[in-house]
Amino acid sequence: MATICTATTKGGTGKTTILVNLAAELRRNGYTVAVVDADPQQHAARWVLHGLSRPRDLGAAVVEGRHGITVATNATDRDIMDRIIELAGRHDAVLVDLQGSANQAMLMAFGVADLVLIPVQPSEYDIDGAVTTLRSVKAAREMTRRDILARVVLSRTSPSFATRAAKETRQAFDRAGVPLLAVEFLDRVAFKEATFTGSAPSLDQPNSPAAKNVAALAAEILGLLAAQADASAA
Ligand SMILES: Nc1ncnc2c1ncn2[C@@H]1O[C@H](COP(=O)(O)OP(=O)(O)O)[C@@H](O)[C@H]1O
Ligand SMILES: [Mg+2]
Repeated sequence: MATICTATTKGGTGKTTILVNLAAELRRNGYTVAVVDADPQQHAARWVLHGLSRPRDLGAAVVEGRHGITVATNATDRDIMDRIIELAGRHDAVLVDLQGSANQAMLMAFGVADLVLIPVQPSEYDIDGAVTTLRSVKAAREMTRRDILARVVLSRTSPSFATRAAKETRQAFDRAGVPLLAVEFLDRVAFKEATFTGSAPSLDQPNSPAAKNVAALAAEILGLLAAQADASAA
């Protein structure tokens, strides 16, 4: 189906949280999922392996984790492309979590990705991170001559009201002609709680507002990828 990277050079925007929740939602929908973790912090791999083993004990490995998700731990610029290509050959979705900096692994992952998701919290600093990341997407497109989709996703926005900061952030991207997802990733304590259990609202509280938010996000992303596949088949 697709290789999706979550990336931005700004730290703490929700890259890993979005990635693990998408992984959970895609599994709930019956898709086979692999996670490639190229962030030295290995938070995505830790989530997949919760209670089974530790990424640091595994080194660079491909193992079966929880929720029927395969995980590639400690991916680096030396092996990230091979890992993604190999896992994409036998999974519906490969989700790649990247470090919060513009490095070689990022460029290589973009080169084999279908979609780059760029989480942006409503703040000027996060906008800068997205701009730098979009430059790397452009470089990857030029190097590979492939059409790599990129979408900004507003992250950690207020579930209760539309803030001025969120509006300003959306307008800044609209003015620059950078496409944003319509669905926002809302700030919810349920996403934090799930980091302690290695689960996700989609799996253990599927009717919760957090799970519904992730379902809407996944539906928009799947729609985008389906439209892209149709366009390239035409
Ligand atoms: N939608 C959200 N709601 C609540 N907390 C969130 C949300 N997204 C991220 N967080 C919290 O914010 C922090 C940074 O998120 P993380 O996904 O690790 O960011 P990144 O991978 O971009 O560095 C973590 O403590 C995480 O639990
Ligand atoms: Mg992270």
